[in-house]
Amino acid sequence: MKTYLVTGGAGFIGSNYIQYMFGKYKESIRIINVDCLTYAGNLENLVSVENRENYIFIKEDICSKEAIHNIFKQYDIDRVVHFAAESHVDRSIRNPQIFVNTNVMGTLNLLDAAKCAWETKGGYKEDKKYLQVSTDEVYGSLEEETGYFYETTSIDPHSPYSASKASADMLVKAYIDTFHFPANITRCSNNYGPYQFPEKLIPLMINNALLGKKLPVYGDGKNVRDWLYVRDHAKAIDMVMEQGRLGQIYNVGGHNEKQNLEIVNLIIETLAELLPAKDPRKEHLNRDLIRYVEDRKGHDKRYAIAPEKIKAETGWEPETMFAEGIRLTIEWYLNNQKWMSHVTSGDYQKYYLEMYR
Ligand code: NAD
Ligand code: TYD
Repeated sequence: MKTYLVTGGAGFIGSNYIQYMFGKYKESIRIINVDCLTYAGNLENLVSVENRENYIFIKEDICSKEAIHNIFKQYDIDRVVHFAAESHVDRSIRNPQIFVNTNVMGTLNLLDAAKCAWETKGGYKEDKKYLQVSTDEVYGSLEEETGYFYETTSIDPHSPYSASKASADMLVKAYIDTFHFPANITRCSNNYGPYQFPEKLIPLMINNALLGKKLPVYGDGKNVRDWLYVRDHAKAIDMVMEQGRLGQIYNVGGHNEKQNLEIVNLIIETLAELLPAKDPRKEHLNRDLIRYVEDRKGHDKRYAIAPEKIKAETGWEPETMFAEGIRLTIEWYLNNQKWMSHVTSGDYQKYYLEMYR
C-alpha cells in the first residue's frame, strides 16, 4: 500500500484530488492530508472521506520544520503531492509576505524533509516521488491572441503570487539538479469545479448572481484564461506521478480559452435556465448586474497552455468539456448553498468589503 502525503488537501484542488484518488484506488492507498486550514481550507470539503481508515488528517503548517520532519519520521511516505499554498492573485497584491512564507519557505521545508527521509548512501529509497503542483502563471502573460506556454517557455512571473510559485519551482529544480531529487513539476491552467472558494472568478460570479449582487468585471473583461475542470487536473497529477519521467515539467491544460466576460455571461444564462420558473432570484438575473470595475494591477492578459507533452508521454487528455463542466459546477453551487454560506461568513465578508469597496 502506497502512502501519500498530500499538503493543502482541504482546499479546492486538494480536496477534489483526494476524492478522485480514493474513488480510483479505494483501499489500496493511504492518504495523509496536512493542512493548517487557512481561510481557504475547509474540512467540509472532505466529509465523504473523513471516516475512511486509510485517511489521516493532520492540522499543521508546512512551514513548521519540526512538524513536517516528524511526519516523515512517523510515516513511510512514498508520494508527496504538494498543493498547499496561498493561491489568490488579488490577495498577493495586498499582502505578498505570506505568499513568500507559505509558497517559497513552505516548499523548501517540504523538499528538505522529503530529501532527508528518502536519502540513502547511493541515492534515494526506491519508488519515492515528490510532485510540485504549480501553475501556468509562472510563465507570465501572453499579450497576443496567439501563441502558447510550453514547458520550455521562460519563467516570467508578474504578480507576487506567480513570483512565489515560480520561486518554489526553482527550488524544486535546484533539488532535482543538485541532489537528483526524484520529483516532477506540473503547471496547470485555471481550474474550475466544486469546492472552489468564492474569491475566484467563477464561484464569485455564481454567488453574487444568486444574491442579486453586482458582478465585478476587472478592466474591459477581455482577459483570457484557459479553463480546466478540476477532476481532469486531479487525473493529470496522478498520471504524471505514475508515468512522468523524473525531473520533468508537464504543462496541464485543455485548450479551452475564454474571455472573462464570456464566462460571466454564460453563468448568468445558465443560472437563469437552471432556476425554477417561480424562483424570485430569477428576477434580477440579467446582464445589468455586470459592473466594470478598476482593473487588477499588473493584470496578465492571456494564459494558454500547450499540453502536448503530457498527452504524448502519459496519454492524459481532459475528459470534461467546458459546456458540461460549467453546468456541473453551477449545479453543484446551487445544490450546496449551505457550503457557500459557511465559507462566506466571517473573514470573507471583511475581505470582500475591503477588496470591492
Ligand atoms: P486553495 O487556496 O483552495 O487551497 C490551498 C490549501 O492550502 C488550503 O486548504 C489551505 O488551508 C492550505 N494551506 C495554505 N497555507 C498553508 C500552510 N502554510 N500550511 C498548510 N496548509 C496550508 O488553493 P487551490 O486553488 O486548491 O490550489 C492548490 C494548488 O494548486 C496551489 O499550489 C496553486 O498554486 C495550484 N494551482 C491552482 C490553480 C487554480 O486554478 N486554482 C491552477 C494551477 C495551479
Ligand atoms: P481568478 O479567478 O482570480 O484567477 P487568476 O487571476 O489566477 O487567473 O481570475 C480569473 C480572471 O477573472 C482574471 O483575469 C481576473 C478576473 N476577475 C474579475 O474580472 N473579477 C473578479 O472579481 C475576479 C475575482 C477575477
